[in-house]
Amino acid sequence: ASSELNAMIAGNELAAKLYHHLLMNTEQGKDALDYLVRRGFTEEMIQQFSLGFAPDSWETLTQFFQKRNVPLHYMEQIGLLAKRDFDGKLFDRYRNRVIFPIWNKDGKVIGFGGRVLGNEQPKYLNSSDSKVFNKSNTLYGLHIARPEMRKKNEAVLFEGYVDVIAAWQAGVRNGIATLGTAITDEQAKLIRRNAQTVIVCYDSDNAGLKATYRAIQILEANDCYVKVARLPEGYDPDDYIQENGPEKFRVEVIGANQTTMAFKMNFLRRGKNLQNEGERMQYIEDVLGEITSLTKSIERDHYVRQLADEFSLSLDVLKQELLRLYKFKN
Ligand code: UTP
Ligand code: MN
Ligand code: MN
Ligand code: MN
Ligand code: MN
Repeated sequence: ASSELNAMIAGNELAAKLYHHLLMNTEQGKDALDYLVRRGFTEEMIQQFSLGFAPDSWETLTQFFQKRNVPLHYMEQIGLLAKRDFDGKLFDRYRNRVIFPIWNKDGKVIGFGGRVLGNEQPKYLNSSDSKVFNKSNTLYGLHIARPEMRKKNEAVLFEGYVDVIAAWQAGVRNGIATLGTAITDEQAKLIRRNAQTVIVCYDSDNAGLKATYRAIQILEANDCYVKVARLPEGYDPDDYIQENGPEKFRVEVIGANQTTMAFKMNFLRRGKNLQNEGERMQYIEDVLGEITSLTKSIERDHYVRQLADEFSLSLDVLKQELLRLYKFKN
């Protein structure tokens, strides 16, 4: 069984090398390399993250494996090759895509993400789960980020491969990402084993903000101390770095992180007109609801006072209301 796993990982490692070579040294890889350079990828980033290119061909990888007597059925099981329905012939699953190898915590290649060069769908094609690859307990970039995570006792959690890489180049070297799915308990535990503080830096769009809300819950439930980066609405971390540079990213986005409560208050405010009495009352109720889940009384006091100040409300009334919500909850 373990020789099977070794063969699968060896196949992944071999494929990663081939893809990297095709990107760096061949005519076939030129458009992909241009694409990466246009997006701000430096040689250093490409090397550190071993990016590659799967050419626009049905058989480049298949023939490469054949020549080396790599067991092809394993390569199909790990999702590098796929099988044609009508005659069972194997073909390359990744075609005309930039390749992002995904490693386990020991730095062995266990899967891939492949991005189209344009706007076709799906944008990323990822390895399916296999005997060597389990999306829900893998974090992209962990083996690279681990030393810095341990040293700082802090991790920065991103949504995308590109965000981890751009942040790394910008000097944020404790960055990791989930693999296109919501963060799981296993991933939270994996982070917690290496760092206690987690700065969530997801895309600042609707989906990303909702995912941030959920990530806070999962991470806190696994004993992480959570902060939220301050990324202006409409940006993802990579967009922000390309537009504003590394210094601003480090200082104003990661450095100026906010508490989860501050994040939630901003989130609850979105799309509400607080001049409108009904919407303002709803907002106040929502914030009080969040305050009830704070465990530290000092924090609860702080945010109740903040609400009272902002909306010129009596502190006593707010505290009574909080008490009512508590009873309601328990
Ligand atoms: P995003 O759509 O935010 O992509 O998805 P991105 O990371 O900003 O990529 P670029 O900048 O457009 O190249 C975030 C993550 O979700 C997963 C990938 O892991 C991606 O990095 N994803 C996204 C998929 O798995 N499949 C998709 O089709 C899209
Ligand atoms: Mn290299
Ligand atoms: Mn996104
Ligand atoms: Mn994004
Ligand atoms: Mn992006």
